[in-house]
Amino acid sequence: MNFATRSGLAVLLLGGFGGAIAWLSAGGGGSKSHAPAVRWESSVQCKPCHEDVYAEWFGSHHRISYTNPEVRELSDDFRKEECMDCHLPRPLAVTGFGKRTLPRRTHFDEGVSCISCHLGEGGGIVGRNDRPEVPCRPRRSEPFLAVEACESCHNQHGTTDQWRASHYAKQGTDCSSCHMPEVRRVRSDGSTRMGRDHVYRGAHDQATLQKAGRFEVKAEGQEVVLSLTNVEAGHNFPTEERHRAVDMMYRFVTAGGPTPQWTLAHRARQPYRDESTPVGPGAAPGENTQLPAGATKVVRVPIPAGATAVEARLWYRLTPFCGDDSDKSTLLFERRLDLP
Ligand code: HEC
Ligand code: HEC
Ligand code: HEC
Ligand code: HEC
Ligand code: HEC
Repeated sequence: MNFATRSGLAVLLLGGFGGAIAWLSAGGGGSKSHAPAVRWESSVQCKPCHEDVYAEWFGSHHRISYTNPEVRELSDDFRKEECMDCHLPRPLAVTGFGKRTLPRRTHFDEGVSCISCHLGEGGGIVGRNDRPEVPCRPRRSEPFLAVEACESCHNQHGTTDQWRASHYAKQGTDCSSCHMPEVRRVRSDGSTRMGRDHVYRGAHDQATLQKAGRFEVKAEGQEVVLSLTNVEAGHNFPTEERHRAVDMMYRFVTAGGPTPQWTLAHRARQPYRDESTPVGPGAAPGENTQLPAGATKVVRVPIPAGATAVEARLWYRLTPFCGDDSDKSTLLFERRLDLP
């Protein structure tokens, strides 16, 4: 084999998913030889052996972080280059776990990819356990498992700091405990083992959003009391993007009268730095009204004469600049209370 063919072959081997297979057919799986000649650079390389993880990730917001139309619009099609840092990142190991990531210029449709999270400092795969007997030879890595790995991208608006200030941090319930629940995986021989879900459900999933809040409505004397408690978000509710909002709304019903408009009782939201109007009723200009983990917000509303019932709703909005009919609004809870 001359030099040209040999380096051509090397490129092929290093090139992608072909690399893993070629290395395996060379007996890499069980051999005691040193580091395999696989250069891990695309999620597609993991797909044949981790079909289920791949499918979960493929449908996730991590995968679409660079192709997401919402992001493309706000980043002016990534002409705002600083947006690429976290939406098309180089592997965490390259910039350092816990450090702000830097952008890459490859695999545009893979966003936050398997490689972004799972590549180790030495070019191998990192995970929870040392598994030298397994084809991809994962090694245990503390920095990979730490909250700081998420923090590289998830503290822009304070989510990781909010978590640190919560009782979840004290009791050791980390981001993955909630966002990567255990799932059963089936091995190629039909046996099963426990794995971790890679969908990363969050603000685009109604069930996850409903878990976050407990919404109650009761009558006390001449007042209706609306209360919202952050029972299961390990950080503020809502968190991250400043345009996320949680709205408590109500309306009173009178016998025979017309159905009135909904009134906003409270909006939980972090304002933009340059926003001069308060985010909602009762808030001061610039005030962050997001609800910290475990905290309760109570709003008391006087019952108007003739009211026979009160209806209340809790909405989650991906952006506050949208109405109830928008697909960016998710109805979390609806309550009706007959008044004496
Ligand atoms: C420090 C890392 C980081 C940088 C830099 C960054 N983002 Fe993000 N972005 C995130 C994370 C993490 C999320 C997920 C949290 C969330 O959805 O609120 C996100 C979510 C978003 C979303 C919401 C997507 C959806 O489906 O709802 C939009 C839109 C967005 N980013 C736009 C931008 C734009 C525009 C820029 C550049 C001005 C930018 N981002 C820069 C980390 C970053
Ligand atoms: C040729 C097959 C093959 C390829 C390619 C492969 N893996 Fe694996 N991997 C396995 C097998 C088999 C296991 C063990 C599963 C089990 O426990 O039964 C495993 C286990 C793992 C584990 C678990 C380690 C732990 O903590 O226990 C991680 C993480 C992992 N792989 C990541 C990856 C990533 C990321 C890629 C792509 C960059 C990849 N693998 C490519 C076969 C493969
Ligand atoms: C390299 C940057 C990066 C890392 C590391 C990262 N994320 Fe993300 N994450 C993002 C971006 C960017 C988005 C939003 C993508 C979009 O919607 O376009 C996101 C979205 C999410 C979402 C929201 C999904 C939704 O639908 O609302 C959750 C939850 C999440 N990440 C959790 C985590 C956890 C937990 C970790 C640590 C194990 C982590 N992420 C590590 C960049 C990252
Ligand atoms: C945002 C970061 C992130 C991305 C992206 C990501 N993983 Fe993971 N993965 C993790 C973390 C963190 C764990 C370990 C969770 C634990 O054990 O605490 C994990 C665990 C695993 C495991 C062992 C558990 C199981 O379910 O089998 C495998 C295998 C794995 N990942 C493969 C992949 C593959 C393949 C991809 C791409 C298709 C991928 N991961 C994408 C962070 C990520
Ligand atoms: C106790 C469980 C729990 C823990 C711990 C937790 N989360 Fe969440 N997370 C939730 C719930 C519930 C939601 C949905 C409500 C919300 O958006 O606040 C959520 C929402 C999110 C979102 C979606 C926000 C958006 O705007 O799209 C992101 C991103 C996120 N979490 C990241 C993290 C990170 C990073 C950590 C660790 C620092 C973490 N979470 C810890 C339960 C948890």
